[in-house]
Amino acid sequence: MNSAAEPAPTYRTGFHIGGRWVSPLGTDEISVENPATEQVIGRVPAGTAADVDRAVAAARAAFPGWAALAPTERAAHLERLHRRLTARAGEIAHTVACELGTPLKIAARVQAGLPLTVLDSYVTLAASPPEEETVGNSLVVREPVGVVGAITPWNYPLHQVVAKVAPALAAGCTVVLKPAELTPLVAYLLFDAVDEAGLPPGVVNLVTGTGPVAGAALAAHPGVDMVSFTGSTATGTQISRLAADRIARVSLELGGKSANIIFEDADLAGAVKVGVGNAFLNSGQTCTAWTRMLVHRSRYDEAVDLAGKAAGGYRLGDPFDPATRLGPLVSAGQRERVRGYVERGLAEGARLVTGGLDAPVPDTGYFVAPTVLADVDPDSTVAQEEIFGPVLAVIPFDDDDHAVAIANNSKYGLAGAVWSGDQDRAVAVARRLRTGAVDVNGGAFNPLAPFGGYKQSGVGRELGAHGLAEFLEVKSIQR
Ligand code: NAI
Ligand code: MG
Repeated sequence: MNSAAEPAPTYRTGFHIGGRWVSPLGTDEISVENPATEQVIGRVPAGTAADVDRAVAAARAAFPGWAALAPTERAAHLERLHRRLTARAGEIAHTVACELGTPLKIAARVQAGLPLTVLDSYVTLAASPPEEETVGNSLVVREPVGVVGAITPWNYPLHQVVAKVAPALAAGCTVVLKPAELTPLVAYLLFDAVDEAGLPPGVVNLVTGTGPVAGAALAAHPGVDMVSFTGSTATGTQISRLAADRIARVSLELGGKSANIIFEDADLAGAVKVGVGNAFLNSGQTCTAWTRMLVHRSRYDEAVDLAGKAAGGYRLGDPFDPATRLGPLVSAGQRERVRGYVERGLAEGARLVTGGLDAPVPDTGYFVAPTVLADVDPDSTVAQEEIFGPVLAVIPFDDDDHAVAIANNSKYGLAGAVWSGDQDRAVAVARRLRTGAVDVNGGAFNPLAPFGGYKQSGVGRELGAHGLAEFLEVKSIQR
């Protein structure tokens, strides 16, 4: 595949520390690949512990001044940043389409549009932080936690960054960002905007690098008061251990295996169509993806048929072709991981409805065909583990209690959905799900609603006022 829109390789040679671009102390580099073409499209420096040290020192030095600003002054900085970043929306979508493979049309809406919406929400929230309270003879005030280490994943590479940096800055914290090594390029666009917006030096700093070196150095750094992480549960566990040595605050947004419950009285065609779309968004590389479709047994065969047809209709290919709905997976490694799960699912007794390992995919690029597995045992591997690819497991249930039991039969609890013609029934079931978010009958995404997980899906909440509160300490002053 050779897209006409493919840009010249992007070489970024520096980190952004203390308000300027600085050279790395080491010489290692990370190659960035376009997963649709398998070509190297850029290189960024691989930061060392010494680079992280410099960035943390800059963030520490900037903290007192930034924390002392009036909320409206911080809001004005974020507003300028939002304006500068908005001017780059096209470039952001294009960059993420190249480094991650999200189809350009979808990248414009989700990879560029969503972070701009979230940043805008924090322009408003920064100006009106939580009110001080009086509790008896105490004055209860909130103060920024301090220096935040932000470690982010590759699946929504700018959104995941903004969902940490914007509320942290709004709260009065300063930040060192270590973006994902598979998709580091879009972060440079954010820091170009930071420069143009004239944010005070050191308020937000960038060190690119690998997880085990730069990421671990940041998580373990004594100058970092809080680590905010999004990614796999396994890495979340390691980061928690590193932070535990100095009792640093940790917030974690981790994996998911969310259930989409479809009752017999639901608009079946609508529920299945939206459900498949949700499961396959970003080629299934979405932590909130509804990867388990639970259907009432009386409509089960019909739903499996609809899901198979919907999935089979997804057009795979060049992210720059406007007809493409599914791009490649992020890397060769991710493709192998996903293929392994499909194989395992079939070996454990699931029935292949569409897709699978033999379905045709483009020769070049890390593609997996959209795959629907039916009759999936709720205890089997593909019903329990996060696959992070375009693979949907369909499971029948007998009644409301059974649906809730299957949905809650997971170590995860990040998202979910319920569909029923009876809204009260759907909301009642939503309340019984041990998960951080539930969409009822296609309820719209709300960027101000708290976002985060129960169980092994994480600790803490992002977005909206709850997301800002994560970055605040509470102090009681007795008079
Ligand atoms: P990962 O969790 O290892 O990577 C996420 C971030 O953590 C990256 O910035 C990485 O450099 C950093 N990191 C890795 N090891 C670290 C360490 N020891 N200390 C500090 N930072 C570290 O995710 P990976 O390996 O890219 O993907 C593997 C699986 O994780 C995926 O197949 C998917 O199931 C899951 N995942 C879930 C995400 C989510 O949003 N919930 C996002 C990305 C991956
Ligand atoms: Mg890449």
